[in-house]
Amino acid sequence: MKKSHMEIEIKQQPQIISKIIDAYFFDNEKVIIDAPDDVDKIIMVASGSSYHCARCAAEIFGDVSNIEARAIYSSEFLLKKVIPNHALYIFISQSGETTDTLSALQKVKQLGMQTLCVTNVENSTMWKAADYRVNCLAGEEQSVASTKALTAQMLCLYLLAIKYAADKKSDISKQIKNLQVLPDVIQRSINLEGKIQTLAKFLYKYRDIVIAADGVSYALAKEACLKIKETSYINVMSHILGEFMHGHLAVLNNKKTILVYISSDELSYSAIKNLEKIKADYNPPICVIGTSTDRLNTSYNIDCNLDSDNYILKIFSNLVIIQILALKIAEKLGRDVDKPKGLRKIVTEN
Ligand code: M6R
Repeated sequence: MKKSHMEIEIKQQPQIISKIIDAYFFDNEKVIIDAPDDVDKIIMVASGSSYHCARCAAEIFGDVSNIEARAIYSSEFLLKKVIPNHALYIFISQSGETTDTLSALQKVKQLGMQTLCVTNVENSTMWKAADYRVNCLAGEEQSVASTKALTAQMLCLYLLAIKYAADKKSDISKQIKNLQVLPDVIQRSINLEGKIQTLAKFLYKYRDIVIAADGVSYALAKEACLKIKETSYINVMSHILGEFMHGHLAVLNNKKTILVYISSDELSYSAIKNLEKIKADYNPPICVIGTSTDRLNTSYNIDCNLDSDNYILKIFSNLVIIQILALKIAEKLGRDVDKPKGLRKIVTEN
Protein backbone atom coordinates (compact mmCIF):
# COMPACT_ATOMS: atom_id res chain seq x y z
CA MET A 1 0.00 0.00 0.00
CA LYS A 2 1.28 3.48 -0.91
CA LYS A 3 2.23 5.46 2.19
CA SER A 4 0.29 8.65 2.90
CA HIS A 5 2.05 12.00 3.16
CA MET A 6 0.94 12.05 6.78
CA GLU A 7 2.77 8.81 7.54
CA ILE A 8 5.87 9.84 5.60
CA GLU A 9 5.99 13.19 7.40
CA ILE A 10 5.53 11.61 10.85
CA LYS A 11 8.46 9.31 10.14
CA GLN A 12 10.74 12.11 8.93
CA GLN A 13 10.72 13.65 12.38
CA PRO A 14 13.91 12.22 13.92
CA GLN A 15 15.97 13.65 11.03
CA ILE A 16 14.16 16.99 11.16
CA ILE A 17 14.76 17.28 14.89
CA SER A 18 18.49 16.63 14.39
CA LYS A 19 18.61 19.21 11.60
CA ILE A 20 16.99 21.90 13.76
CA ILE A 21 19.34 21.19 16.65
CA ASP A 22 22.34 21.40 14.30
CA ALA A 23 21.06 24.68 12.86
CA TYR A 24 20.37 26.55 16.10
CA PHE A 25 22.41 24.89 18.84
CA PHE A 26 26.11 25.55 18.39
CA ASP A 27 29.09 23.67 19.84
CA ASN A 28 26.73 21.76 22.08
CA GLU A 29 26.39 24.79 24.32
CA LYS A 30 24.81 27.89 22.76
CA VAL A 31 21.51 28.61 21.08
CA ILE A 32 21.82 31.16 18.28
CA ILE A 33 18.43 32.17 17.01
CA ASP A 34 16.93 35.38 15.58
CA ALA A 35 15.21 36.84 18.65
CA PRO A 36 15.46 39.96 20.82
CA ASP A 37 17.32 39.90 24.15
CA ASP A 38 15.86 40.97 27.51
CA VAL A 39 12.33 39.73 27.23
CA ASP A 40 10.08 39.83 30.32
CA LYS A 41 6.82 38.69 28.84
CA ILE A 42 5.83 36.60 25.82
CA ILE A 43 2.47 36.42 24.10
CA MET A 44 2.05 33.72 21.47
CA VAL A 45 -0.68 33.97 18.87
CA ALA A 46 -1.64 31.08 16.61
CA SER A 47 -4.44 28.85 15.30
CA GLY A 48 -5.10 25.11 15.21
CA SER A 49 -2.12 22.89 15.90
CA SER A 50 0.16 25.91 16.03
CA TYR A 51 -1.94 27.19 18.95
CA HIS A 52 -1.50 23.88 20.76
CA CYS A 53 2.23 24.30 20.29
CA ALA A 54 1.95 27.79 21.81
CA ARG A 55 0.12 26.42 24.85
CA CYS A 56 2.83 23.87 25.58
CA ALA A 57 5.53 26.44 24.91
CA ALA A 58 3.94 28.88 27.38
CA GLU A 59 4.56 26.35 30.17
CA ILE A 60 8.10 25.74 28.96
CA PHE A 61 8.99 29.47 28.86
CA GLY A 62 7.71 29.80 32.43
CA ASP A 63 9.56 26.77 33.71
CA VAL A 64 12.83 26.85 31.72
CA SER A 65 13.39 30.61 31.32
CA ASN A 66 11.25 32.03 34.12
CA ILE A 67 9.44 34.25 31.62
CA GLU A 68 5.72 34.86 31.93
CA ALA A 69 4.16 33.58 28.71
CA ARG A 70 0.68 32.93 27.42
CA ALA A 71 -0.99 31.62 24.30
CA ILE A 72 -4.04 33.01 22.57
CA TYR A 73 -6.00 31.92 19.51
CA SER A 74 -5.48 34.30 16.59
CA SER A 75 -9.20 34.82 16.03
CA GLU A 76 -9.70 35.67 19.73
CA PHE A 77 -6.71 37.99 19.73
CA LEU A 78 -8.31 40.02 16.96
CA LEU A 79 -11.31 40.65 19.23
CA LYS A 80 -9.22 42.05 22.08
CA LYS A 81 -9.74 45.75 22.75
CA VAL A 82 -6.67 46.06 24.96
CA ILE A 83 -3.46 44.13 24.49
CA PRO A 84 -0.44 44.13 26.80
CA ASN A 85 2.50 46.45 26.11
CA HIS A 86 6.14 45.57 26.62
CA ALA A 87 5.85 42.00 25.48
CA LEU A 88 7.46 39.99 22.72
CA TYR A 89 4.68 38.79 20.43
CA ILE A 90 5.37 35.44 18.79
CA PHE A 91 3.25 34.35 15.83
CA ILE A 92 3.39 30.64 15.12
CA SER A 93 2.25 29.37 11.76
CA GLN A 94 3.30 26.42 9.62
CA SER A 95 2.29 28.21 6.43
CA GLY A 96 3.00 31.80 7.45
CA GLU A 97 -0.20 32.74 5.61
CA THR A 98 -3.17 31.94 7.91
CA THR A 99 -5.41 35.00 7.69
CA ASP A 100 -6.26 35.36 11.40
CA THR A 101 -2.64 34.99 12.53
CA LEU A 102 -1.41 37.35 9.85
CA SER A 103 -4.04 39.97 10.78
CA ALA A 104 -3.02 39.62 14.43
CA LEU A 105 0.63 40.20 13.49
CA GLN A 106 -0.31 43.31 11.51
CA LYS A 107 -2.36 44.61 14.45
CA VAL A 108 0.62 44.21 16.81
CA LYS A 109 3.01 45.83 14.34
CA GLN A 110 0.75 48.86 14.03
CA LEU A 111 1.00 49.25 17.81
CA GLY A 112 4.79 49.29 17.50
CA MET A 113 5.53 46.14 19.46
CA GLN A 114 8.24 43.53 18.78
CA THR A 115 7.13 40.64 16.62
CA LEU A 116 8.74 37.29 15.98
CA CYS A 117 7.38 34.60 13.71
CA VAL A 118 8.05 30.88 13.85
CA THR A 119 7.13 29.45 10.49
CA ASN A 120 7.95 26.62 8.17
CA VAL A 121 7.83 28.82 5.08
CA GLU A 122 10.69 31.21 4.55
CA ASN A 123 9.55 34.31 2.65
CA SER A 124 5.89 33.73 3.56
CA THR A 125 3.87 36.86 4.29
CA MET A 126 4.38 36.53 8.06
CA TRP A 127 8.08 35.90 7.58
CA LYS A 128 8.43 39.14 5.66
CA ALA A 129 6.29 41.14 8.08
CA ALA A 130 7.88 40.09 11.39
CA ASP A 131 10.84 41.81 13.07
CA TYR A 132 12.47 38.49 13.99
CA ARG A 133 12.11 35.16 12.15
CA VAL A 134 12.68 31.54 13.00
CA ASN A 135 12.48 28.99 10.22
CA CYS A 136 11.32 25.71 11.72
CA LEU A 137 13.06 23.76 8.95
CA ALA A 138 10.58 20.89 8.71
CA GLY A 139 10.60 20.90 4.91
CA GLU A 140 7.45 21.20 2.84
CA GLU A 141 4.46 19.73 4.67
CA GLN A 142 1.94 18.25 2.26
CA SER A 143 -0.41 16.52 4.67
CA VAL A 144 -3.37 18.69 5.68
CA ALA A 145 -2.94 17.35 9.21
CA SER A 146 0.15 19.07 10.54
CA THR A 147 2.64 16.71 12.17
CA LYS A 148 6.31 17.36 11.48
CA ALA A 149 5.84 21.14 11.33
CA LEU A 150 4.20 21.17 14.76
CA THR A 151 7.01 19.13 16.35
CA ALA A 152 9.53 21.42 14.65
CA GLN A 153 7.74 24.55 15.98
CA MET A 154 7.80 23.04 19.47
CA LEU A 155 11.52 22.46 19.25
CA CYS A 156 12.23 26.00 17.95
CA LEU A 157 10.31 27.46 20.89
CA TYR A 158 12.07 25.12 23.32
CA LEU A 159 15.41 26.33 21.90
CA LEU A 160 14.27 29.92 22.36
CA ALA A 161 13.38 29.14 25.99
CA ILE A 162 16.86 27.64 26.45
CA LYS A 163 18.44 30.77 24.93
CA TYR A 164 16.59 33.01 27.41
CA ALA A 165 17.51 30.70 30.31
CA ALA A 166 21.20 30.83 29.27
CA ASP A 167 21.02 34.65 28.91
CA LYS A 168 19.92 34.74 32.56
CA LYS A 169 22.83 32.45 33.50
CA SER A 170 20.43 29.72 34.61
CA ASP A 171 21.66 26.15 34.64
CA ILE A 172 20.77 24.66 31.24
CA SER A 173 22.63 21.36 31.62
CA LYS A 174 19.39 19.37 31.84
CA GLN A 175 18.09 21.04 28.68
CA ILE A 176 21.34 20.26 26.84
CA LYS A 177 20.97 16.59 27.79
CA ASN A 178 17.40 16.70 26.48
CA LEU A 179 18.56 18.07 23.13
CA GLN A 180 21.17 15.33 22.87
CA VAL A 181 18.62 12.55 23.27
CA LEU A 182 15.61 14.13 21.56
CA PRO A 183 16.06 12.59 18.06
CA ASP A 184 16.32 9.17 19.69
CA VAL A 185 13.24 9.82 21.85
CA ILE A 186 11.27 10.69 18.71
CA GLN A 187 12.49 7.52 16.99
CA ARG A 188 11.60 5.40 20.03
CA SER A 189 8.11 6.90 20.00
CA ILE A 190 7.74 6.06 16.30
CA ASN A 191 8.88 2.52 17.14
CA LEU A 192 5.77 2.17 19.34
CA GLU A 193 3.72 2.03 16.10
CA GLY A 194 2.63 -1.60 16.64
CA LYS A 195 1.28 -0.88 20.14
CA ILE A 196 -0.37 2.32 18.96
CA GLN A 197 -2.04 0.43 16.12
CA THR A 198 -3.50 -2.03 18.64
CA LEU A 199 -4.94 0.89 20.61
CA ALA A 200 -6.32 2.41 17.39
CA LYS A 201 -8.07 -0.89 16.57
CA PHE A 202 -9.75 -0.70 19.95
CA LEU A 203 -10.66 3.01 19.75
CA TYR A 204 -11.92 3.38 16.21
CA LYS A 205 -15.27 1.69 16.96
CA TYR A 206 -16.20 4.32 19.54
CA ARG A 207 -18.12 7.34 18.36
CA ASP A 208 -17.62 9.25 21.61
CA ILE A 209 -14.07 9.56 22.77
CA VAL A 210 -13.11 11.78 25.69
CA ILE A 211 -9.45 12.76 25.74
CA ALA A 212 -8.54 14.23 29.09
CA ALA A 213 -5.34 15.65 30.52
CA ASP A 214 -4.11 18.06 33.17
CA GLY A 215 -1.56 20.87 33.11
CA VAL A 216 0.79 21.08 30.15
CA SER A 217 -0.67 17.90 28.66
CA TYR A 218 -4.06 19.53 28.10
CA ALA A 219 -2.68 21.12 24.91
CA LEU A 220 -1.78 17.59 23.77
CA ALA A 221 -5.33 16.40 24.49
CA LYS A 222 -6.60 19.26 22.31
CA GLU A 223 -4.09 18.35 19.62
CA ALA A 224 -5.10 14.66 19.72
CA CYS A 225 -8.75 15.68 19.28
CA LEU A 226 -7.98 17.97 16.37
CA LYS A 227 -5.84 15.36 14.63
CA ILE A 228 -8.42 12.57 15.06
CA LYS A 229 -11.31 14.81 13.95
CA GLU A 230 -9.46 16.05 10.86
CA THR A 231 -8.44 12.60 9.69
CA SER A 232 -11.31 10.36 10.94
CA TYR A 233 -14.28 12.75 11.38
CA ILE A 234 -15.04 11.18 14.79
CA ASN A 235 -16.48 13.44 17.44
CA VAL A 236 -13.71 13.51 20.02
CA MET A 237 -13.84 15.81 23.06
CA SER A 238 -10.91 17.17 25.02
CA HIS A 239 -11.20 18.06 28.70
CA ILE A 240 -9.03 19.11 31.58
CA LEU A 241 -9.54 16.07 33.82
CA GLY A 242 -9.91 18.15 36.99
CA GLU A 243 -12.67 20.19 35.29
CA PHE A 244 -14.25 17.14 33.67
CA MET A 245 -15.34 16.12 37.18
CA HIS A 246 -17.57 19.21 37.41
CA GLY A 247 -20.51 17.83 35.45
CA HIS A 248 -19.01 16.94 32.07
CA LEU A 249 -18.44 13.36 33.21
CA ALA A 250 -22.17 12.70 32.86
CA VAL A 251 -21.41 11.87 29.19
CA LEU A 252 -19.95 8.63 30.54
CA ASN A 253 -23.53 7.48 31.23
CA ASN A 254 -23.48 6.78 27.51
CA LYS A 255 -21.89 3.34 27.65
CA LYS A 256 -20.33 3.81 24.20
CA THR A 257 -17.92 6.40 25.56
CA ILE A 258 -14.25 5.76 26.15
CA LEU A 259 -11.77 7.84 28.11
CA VAL A 260 -8.16 8.40 27.08
CA TYR A 261 -5.90 10.17 29.58
CA ILE A 262 -2.67 11.77 28.37
CA SER A 263 0.07 12.49 30.85
CA SER A 264 3.51 14.02 30.40
CA ASP A 265 4.43 13.44 34.01
CA GLU A 266 3.91 10.81 36.64
CA LEU A 267 0.21 10.50 37.39
CA SER A 268 -0.61 12.98 40.11
CA TYR A 269 -2.51 12.06 43.25
CA SER A 270 -5.57 13.98 42.06
CA ALA A 271 -5.49 12.42 38.57
CA ILE A 272 -5.43 8.93 40.12
CA LYS A 273 -8.28 9.82 42.48
CA ASN A 274 -10.36 11.28 39.63
CA LEU A 275 -9.75 8.33 37.32
CA GLU A 276 -10.54 5.85 40.13
CA LYS A 277 -13.80 7.68 40.82
CA ILE A 278 -14.71 7.65 37.13
CA LYS A 279 -14.01 3.92 36.98
CA ALA A 280 -16.07 3.22 40.09
CA ASP A 281 -19.07 5.33 39.02
CA TYR A 282 -19.22 4.74 35.24
CA ASN A 283 -16.74 1.96 34.45
CA PRO A 284 -15.68 3.19 30.98
CA PRO A 285 -12.60 1.67 29.31
CA ILE A 286 -9.67 3.89 30.33
CA CYS A 287 -6.50 4.16 28.23
CA VAL A 288 -3.44 6.02 29.46
CA ILE A 289 -0.85 7.52 27.11
CA GLY A 290 2.52 8.85 28.23
CA THR A 291 3.12 7.18 31.55
CA SER A 292 3.05 3.63 32.88
CA THR A 293 0.76 2.92 35.75
CA ASP A 294 -0.36 -0.12 37.67
CA ARG A 295 -2.45 2.02 40.03
CA LEU A 296 -5.38 2.00 37.60
CA ASN A 297 -7.31 -0.68 35.81
CA THR A 298 -6.45 0.48 32.28
CA SER A 299 -7.50 -1.17 29.03
CA TYR A 300 -4.41 0.16 27.25
CA ASN A 301 -1.28 1.89 28.48
CA ILE A 302 1.24 3.34 26.02
CA ASP A 303 4.46 4.79 27.28
CA CYS A 304 7.88 5.51 25.83
CA ASN A 305 9.51 4.73 29.21
CA LEU A 306 11.37 8.01 29.59
CA ASP A 307 12.62 9.49 32.87
CA SER A 308 9.46 9.95 34.85
CA ASP A 309 10.32 13.54 35.82
CA ASN A 310 11.26 14.77 32.34
CA TYR A 311 8.03 16.29 31.14
CA ILE A 312 9.63 18.10 28.18
CA LEU A 313 10.87 14.90 26.54
CA LYS A 314 7.49 13.35 27.29
CA ILE A 315 5.66 16.18 25.53
CA PHE A 316 7.63 15.45 22.35
CA SER A 317 7.12 11.72 22.70
CA ASN A 318 3.38 12.10 23.33
CA LEU A 319 3.05 14.41 20.33
CA VAL A 320 4.39 11.67 18.08
CA ILE A 321 2.25 8.99 19.75
CA ILE A 322 -0.98 10.95 19.17
CA GLN A 323 -0.04 11.68 15.56
CA ILE A 324 0.41 7.95 14.91
CA LEU A 325 -2.79 7.19 16.83
CA ALA A 326 -4.80 9.58 14.63
CA LEU A 327 -3.22 8.10 11.50
CA LYS A 328 -4.01 4.53 12.53
CA ILE A 329 -7.62 5.28 13.54
CA ALA A 330 -8.18 6.98 10.17
CA GLU A 331 -6.63 4.05 8.31
CA LYS A 332 -8.91 1.62 10.20
CA LEU A 333 -11.89 3.69 9.09
CA GLY A 334 -10.63 3.71 5.50
CA ARG A 335 -10.26 7.51 5.37
CA ASP A 336 -7.97 9.25 2.92
CA VAL A 337 -5.84 11.14 5.47
CA ASP A 338 -4.22 13.26 2.79
CA LYS A 339 -7.54 14.56 1.48
CA PRO A 340 -9.83 15.15 4.47
CA LYS A 341 -13.27 16.17 3.23
CA GLY A 342 -13.87 19.90 3.18
CA LEU A 343 -10.47 20.88 4.64
CA ARG A 344 -7.75 23.01 3.12
CA LYS A 345 -4.14 23.09 4.19
CA ILE A 346 -4.12 26.85 4.68
CA VAL A 347 -7.08 28.69 6.19
CA THR A 348 -7.29 32.02 4.39
CA GLU A 349 -10.17 34.29 3.46
CA ASN A 350 -10.15 33.26 -0.18
O1 M6R B 1 -0.39 27.28 8.86
P1 M6R B 1 -0.84 27.46 10.28
O2 M6R B 1 0.02 26.80 11.28
O3 M6R B 1 -1.10 28.90 10.62
O4 M6R B 1 -2.24 26.71 10.32
C1 M6R B 1 -3.04 26.75 11.48
C2 M6R B 1 -4.13 25.72 11.40
O5 M6R B 1 -4.99 25.96 10.32
C3 M6R B 1 -3.55 24.30 11.26
O6 M6R B 1 -2.71 23.98 12.35
C4 M6R B 1 -4.67 23.25 11.18
O7 M6R B 1 -5.39 23.21 12.37
C5 M6R B 1 -4.02 21.92 10.83
N1 M6R B 1 -4.67 21.34 9.71
C6 M6R B 1 -3.93 20.99 11.98
O8 M6R B 1 -3.48 19.72 11.65
